[in-house]
Amino acid sequence: MDPIKNPFAPGAGNPPPELAGRDEVLECARVMLGRTMAGRHEQSQMLVGLRGVGKTVLLNRIRELAEEQGFKTVMIEATEGHSLPELLIPPLRKIFFQLDAGANASDKVKRGLRVLRSFVGAIKLKVSDLEIGLDIDPEKGAADSGDLDADLAELFIALGEAALDRGTAIAVIVDELQYLDEAEMGSLIMAMHRVGQRALPVVLVGAGLPQLVGLAGRAKSYAERLFAYPEIGPLAGPDAREALQGPVRRQGVEYADEALDEIIRITHRYPYFLQQWGYESWNLAQASPIRIEVIRAATESATRKLDASFFRVRFDRLTPREKDYLRALAEMGPGPHRSGDVAETLGLRVQSVAPLRGGLIRKGMIYSPAHGDTAFTVPMFDEFMRRTMPEWHPPK
Ligand SMILES: Nc1ncnc2c1ncn2[C@@H]1O[C@H](COP(=O)(O)OP(=O)(O)OP(=O)(O)O)[C@@H](O)[C@H]1O
Ligand SMILES: [Mg+2]
Repeated sequence: MDPIKNPFAPGAGNPPPELAGRDEVLECARVMLGRTMAGRHEQSQMLVGLRGVGKTVLLNRIRELAEEQGFKTVMIEATEGHSLPELLIPPLRKIFFQLDAGANASDKVKRGLRVLRSFVGAIKLKVSDLEIGLDIDPEKGAADSGDLDADLAELFIALGEAALDRGTAIAVIVDELQYLDEAEMGSLIMAMHRVGQRALPVVLVGAGLPQLVGLAGRAKSYAERLFAYPEIGPLAGPDAREALQGPVRRQGVEYADEALDEIIRITHRYPYFLQQWGYESWNLAQASPIRIEVIRAATESATRKLDASFFRVRFDRLTPREKDYLRALAEMGPGPHRSGDVAETLGLRVQSVAPLRGGLIRKGMIYSPAHGDTAFTVPMFDEFMRRTMPEWHPPK
């Protein structure tokens, strides 16, 4: 088929041609946004799922829903190298300026800008470039204590009051939440708690790997009352089929039934892989319907591409010892596996591998689905590890 017309979109955060099987999550988000706009309290939503299930795509869609409802939105992605204030300040500054742009001056918005200025002054980081364009006196005594719990809450309250005054609402959207440290996560939860108590129109939507649930619970024990954690997983069978068949049908092409069965079998219905197999099979197919032989050929090229990108970028961030740990985990199959068994495969004691395992959890490579269990956060990473380190023996 003509590669220019290829409808599929493998890649981080790329909107799929068919956002299949996510109506329920999106409906919950729509209700949460509507209630927040109307001044009613609603739990924040934290989308939780493995790599490549479509969390970022959903956050982008929720952002669009929020903007359609008249929200101002802030979207950031937590990373291992940047602090939460550093990430929040530039987009919040932009929002305050947008709120300030209306016809009549608003005291609440002006105060919000001064509180933001105080907040910037109180955090000890290279703020020089951030300060540019905040040519305003700080609000003394607000958000400038140097204690992130107190300061972020005051900043969010000032933000909520400014939004309320302008008849709008704010959606703070944070991707890769598992990369916040415990203190930052705690401050974010506390800020949302304070904003909720005042019924201010600020809502938090987050996404991240499964470890984010434990992180939030450790940071503030009341997190589970404030947050809902919708699980984003592989698609249900009919949705996975529709994710493939829908986009090609719109171009007068069809998958044969056994071809779809084969894609479903190999991808385990994970959205990223569905896109990759859809993409490869479209390019390889000579005619409609696309048959199972085409899928078999597509498996080869799809695997090669994933090995060079989706899997590879993660593998390259690992130390040799981390590679050994993951290779031992992979030796036992897809998982989850008992942490003790992984240690045994490595020929080491559980206690001596614990720091290594902890580091891999923080890096987002593995998580603990239940106490004492370990599993990959990247679907099918076990197969990749065995492909990429075929002749492996436990280190001496
Ligand atoms: N509901 C869906 N139906 C079909 N394809 C989807 C769906 N959701 C996402 N995809 C596709 O899956 C791929 C991964 O999506 P996305 O980057 O949002 O995943 P993610 O969960 O954020 O992954 P990561 O944890 O690696 O950041 C993209 O190519 C996207 O087009
Ligand atoms: Mg993502």
